[in-house]
Amino acid sequence: MEKSYCIVTYGCQMNVHESEKIAGILRAKGYTREAREEEADIIVFNTCCIRENAENHAYGNIGALKKMKKARPSLLIAVGGCMTQQDGAAEKLKKKFPFVDIVFGTHNLEELGRLIDLKEGRKKAVVEIVPGKERVEGEDKDISFRTSYPNAWVNIMYGCNNFCSYCIVPYVRGRERSRRPENILAEANALLDEGYKEITLLGQNVNSYGNDAGGVFTFPQLLDKICKRKEKFRLRFMTSNPKDFGEELIRAVAENEQVCNLIHLPVQAGSDRILKLMNRKYTAEEYLKKVELLRKAVPGCCLTTDLMVGFPTETEEDFQDTLRLVKEAGFSTAFTFVYSPRAGTAAAAMEGQIPDEVKKDRIMRLVEAVNSGTRELSSAYLGKTVEILCEDFDEKKKLYLGRDEYGRMGYFQSEENHIGEFVRLKIEEAAGISLQGSLVK
Ligand code: 5AD
Ligand code: SF4
Repeated sequence: MEKSYCIVTYGCQMNVHESEKIAGILRAKGYTREAREEEADIIVFNTCCIRENAENHAYGNIGALKKMKKARPSLLIAVGGCMTQQDGAAEKLKKKFPFVDIVFGTHNLEELGRLIDLKEGRKKAVVEIVPGKERVEGEDKDISFRTSYPNAWVNIMYGCNNFCSYCIVPYVRGRERSRRPENILAEANALLDEGYKEITLLGQNVNSYGNDAGGVFTFPQLLDKICKRKEKFRLRFMTSNPKDFGEELIRAVAENEQVCNLIHLPVQAGSDRILKLMNRKYTAEEYLKKVELLRKAVPGCCLTTDLMVGFPTETEEDFQDTLRLVKEAGFSTAFTFVYSPRAGTAAAAMEGQIPDEVKKDRIMRLVEAVNSGTRELSSAYLGKTVEILCEDFDEKKKLYLGRDEYGRMGYFQSEENHIGEFVRLKIEEAAGISLQGSLVK
C-alpha cells in the first residue's frame, strides 16, 4: 500500500526549503502521498529555535502526538532541524517525549533515509546529531521535492560566521559554507527550464557568499550570471547583512532587470550602543547611508527589515532611536520581534535583561509605528496598475493571489487559472500589506 507523510515546518524560508528536501528523501523511500498528521505513516517535525516561542510551539505539537502514537504504534515520528541541533537538546527531547522514533539535526538532514532504515525493527529511538561540517558536499545537490510552483528556493550557502550576540543560528547551523557557483547555476537554470518564474536565493548572509572559497566568485557575480537568461522571471535573495551590503550588490540589483527591487536588510535596532552590544558592526548612520545609496541607484526600491525590542540594557532612549530610524528609513514593512534569550549566546549571559512588561509595551508601540508607515505606502497604490506573479488560489476568498516585485500581495477574481502567469491588476483596495484589484487585459 502507498505510504504517506506529513512534514510540519517551523521557522524561516531556509527551513521551508529544507522541508522540500525532506519531502524528496521521503519520496525516494516510498512515502509518496502527502497526508494530514492523523493519516500519515511518518510525521517529520522540522524545527526552529530562533526564539523561545518557536520552540514552545514545536514542543506543544510533538507532545500532542503521544495519544496518536499509542493508538497507532506503527506511526513513525521524526524530529529534526535547528532545535535538536542545540547542545543537549536531543537528550532533553528524548526524555520528554520517549515516543519519538528518530532525532536528527541540521547537519545530517540528507541522512534521514538511512535513519528511517535503522529504526526498522528496532525498539530504541535512533538519535543522531553530528557536529558542523567543513564543506558543502552532501548539501550541494538538489534533492528537493518542490510544491511551490511558480516560486522556487535555491540555497546558495549554509551557516553563519557573524555571531550576533543574541543569535543562536551560528551554533545550530555551523560555519559558512558556500555552494559551488556552477551547481547553483545548474539548479537555477534547470528550474527556469521547467518554467519556474521566481527564484529566491537563500543564505544567512548572502553578501559573504564565496568568502569561504577564497572570494573568487562573489554574490553580485552570481546574480549577473543567473540574469544572463533572456526569458521573463524574478530573482530575489535573502538575507543581507548591512555590514557587508555594498556598492557592487547595489550595482547588480540596479543593472539586472530580473532582480527584484526589494531588499530585506535587517537593522535590528536604531541605537548605536545597542547595535554594538549586539555585535552588528555598523552604526545607525552607516545603515542609513547605505539605504540612501540604494535608493539613489535603484529608484523606487522597497526596503524591508527585521527589528528587535528588549535587548539587554535597552533603555527608553535606545528604543526611541529605533522608532526614529523606522521613520527615517521608510521601510515598506518590517518583521518585529521581542528579544528572547537563547542559551549559549553572549546576550543571554548579559546583565540588564528587560522585564516582560517593558518588552510588551515597546513591541506594541513599534508595531504601530511600522504599520502606520505600511498603511501610508499602501494607500499610494490605489488606482495604480501593478504587475503580479500569480502564485495561488485562495479557496476561502475564492480569489487568485500573487505578489508584485515589491512583495505586496495582490488578490483578484478570475474564471481562468492564472497560476504561474504575470498579470496586471488595477488596484481598487489597499489595506495593510495586501491589495485587491481587477485584471487588466
Ligand atoms: N530574540 C528575538 N529575535 C531574534 N532574532 C534572532 N535572534 C533573536 C532572538 N534571540 C530575529 C532577528 C533576525 C530574525 C530572523 O530573528 O531580528 O533578523
Ligand atoms: Fe531558520 Fe534560524 Fe529558525 Fe534555524 S533557528 S529555522 S536558521 S530562523
